[in-house]
Amino acid sequence: MSQLEKLMRPHMAKIATYHGVDPSAELARKAGIEPEDVIRLNANENPYGPLDAIAESLTNLELHLYPDTQQRKLRAALSEYTGQPFERIIAGAGGDEIIDLLMRLFVDPDQKVIDCEPTFGMYAFSARQADAKIVSVDRTETFDIDIPAMSKEIDDTARIVFLASPNNPTGNLLTESNARALLDTGIVVCVDETYYEFSGSTLCPLLEEYENLVILRSFSKWAGIAGLRVGYAIASENLIQHLLDIKQPYNINIAGEAAVLAALEHKDELLGRAKSLVSERQRLEQELDELEGVSYYPSMGNFLLVKFDRRTAEEAYVGLAQHGIFVRRFSQPVLHNALRISAGTPEQTVRVIDALRSVV
Ligand SMILES: Cc1ncc(COP(=O)(O)O)c(C=O)c1O
Repeated sequence: MSQLEKLMRPHMAKIATYHGVDPSAELARKAGIEPEDVIRLNANENPYGPLDAIAESLTNLELHLYPDTQQRKLRAALSEYTGQPFERIIAGAGGDEIIDLLMRLFVDPDQKVIDCEPTFGMYAFSARQADAKIVSVDRTETFDIDIPAMSKEIDDTARIVFLASPNNPTGNLLTESNARALLDTGIVVCVDETYYEFSGSTLCPLLEEYENLVILRSFSKWAGIAGLRVGYAIASENLIQHLLDIKQPYNINIAGEAAVLAALEHKDELLGRAKSLVSERQRLEQELDELEGVSYYPSMGNFLLVKFDRRTAEEAYVGLAQHGIFVRRFSQPVLHNALRISAGTPEQTVRVIDALRSVV
């Protein structure tokens, strides 16, 4: 350990890098192909790219001015979109920032943060930064959450549980009764609805009953602006006010604000694209039904968790990469023969199916 590391907070010094997705040029270099031949289906991004109206909204901005610390225009537009009061909404630099803010607000070192593996990795990553005790309760065989096992973990030191619905990478929804069972314990329950525009399913109505519910949403996937980093939370007025109090003052930049306002003005077109991606996921499912050696888990998102019977996930990953197709692989043993494939454009679906035929 260096002198510098001795000065660091010990839990921070040992945090490992979060490996997000590589840029296309890097993927191409590793696979020995040209960057333009890369098909990115590894981050559930929007393959249609940004809407023209959003790109245009980014011109002539007052870049020399600081953004609004109270996010007034943004929160007003989000209020109209969600039908929730302005006071119940806060925007973050991606859903990721909201997850981090929740840790800062609620979790002291050694207190419990609960998630249900396999799930989105940022919950545990942010919990490690908070020096929390991360309790990962395994999901059942169908990837539902295991309420009896979770209940055993909920004690005086438990602060917050994170549940994605649809869950990434398994694609299934959190049921209302399971959400209620956890909310009734009184700990904070963050229901991550990043893929809401694909699933059409929300637990927002429960906000009327529970002060400890946080609904998390994002503009990264359906609105195609992952690069601008905007997400938001809906929760009780009290909880949102505390999040507003502790956030970085200028957390949403001018470009992110303009893009979200444009996205919401053109929401029908964007929701149309989301619908197309769901159709492409369904087309992939139908094609997989015809293929031997491969199956999939039912999904409500813009992605599919595909299981290989005769290949390891690593072999399938390498086989697809040779065709220029990059998907998501996982380190958890329960996913040793599974890959997550994002829904793409119709042309990309054809390429994926052709590649899968030779890979399985
Ligand atoms: C379940 C889930 N929650 C949150 C996020 C973070 O999204 P954002 O880009 O808004 O930070 C992702 C992104 O992959 C996700 O899959």
